[in-house]
Amino acid sequence: MIYAANWKMNGDKDFVNSILSQIKDNILPNLSDGSSLILCPPTIYLSDVTDRCKNTSIQSGAQDCSAHENGAFTGEVSAQMISGTGAHWVILGHSERRQYHAENNLLLTDKLRTAHNAGLKVIFCVGEMHQHYIEGTTREILKDQLSVLNDASLANLNYIIAYEPVWAIGTGLVPALEEIDLIHQFIKTLLKDTANPPKERTVLYGGSVNPDNAKDIKSLASVDGVLVGGASLSSDKFKQICI
Ligand code: 13P
Repeated sequence: MIYAANWKMNGDKDFVNSILSQIKDNILPNLSDGSSLILCPPTIYLSDVTDRCKNTSIQSGAQDCSAHENGAFTGEVSAQMISGTGAHWVILGHSERRQYHAENNLLLTDKLRTAHNAGLKVIFCVGEMHQHYIEGTTREILKDQLSVLNDASLANLNYIIAYEPVWAIGTGLVPALEEIDLIHQFIKTLLKDTANPPKERTVLYGGSVNPDNAKDIKSLASVDGVLVGGASLSSDKFKQICI
C-alpha cells in the first residue's frame, strides 16, 4: 500500500520539520511490510525533506514541475531541478493545477515528458468534476485525461495514477466504495491498453481520505494506496490512515 501525502501550499519550515520528525518516529516504524510513504511538500521545502529522508525508505516528491527543460520562465521549477534534490516523484495533473492554472492535455504531455527525461516517477492525477459525476460521464472524462499517456514521447514513463474525483477533494464527500472499486478497475483496464502501459498498474485513491474512511477504502482490492491532502497535515490523522 502506498501512502502519499500532498501538503499542497500549507505549513512553514517549522511545521515541515516537526511533522517530518513525527512521521519518521511514529509512522514509518509501524508501517506494514510492503507499504511505502511518499511525501510531497511545497517545493521550497523539498530539498530539506529529501535530505532528511535519505537513508530511510521515505520517498519525496514535488507537487508540479515546469513543462520546459530550462530557460526564461520566471518562477518555474524544472523537473531536472526537482530530480537534482534527490526527490523521486512529481505529482502532475492535479485538479487544482487543471482548474486554477488551466493545465490541459497538451501542456500535461510536455510536463510528463520533462519529468520522464529528468528520471522522475510521476503520480498522474485524474478525476471528474461533480457535474460529470451527476451526468454519468466520469468514464469519458477519465479516458480523455488518460489519453495523454499514449504519446509516443512517453515510452517507458514511470508512473502511477491517482484517481481523485474533484468533488471529493477537501469536501468530506467520498464516492461509494463500490464506485471507487469500479472506477479503479476501469482505469486499470485503460492502462493495460495504453500505448505506454506502466510496469505495474498502480492506482491510488484521493479525495477526503480520513481516519474514518481509510480502512474501508484500503480494503478494496483495486486500491493500491491513497493520496491524502488535508488529513496528511496532521501526523495523528495521517498515522491512523497509514497504520
Ligand atoms: P483532501 O484529502 O484534502 O481531500 O485532498 C486530496 C488531494 O487533493 C490530494 O492530492
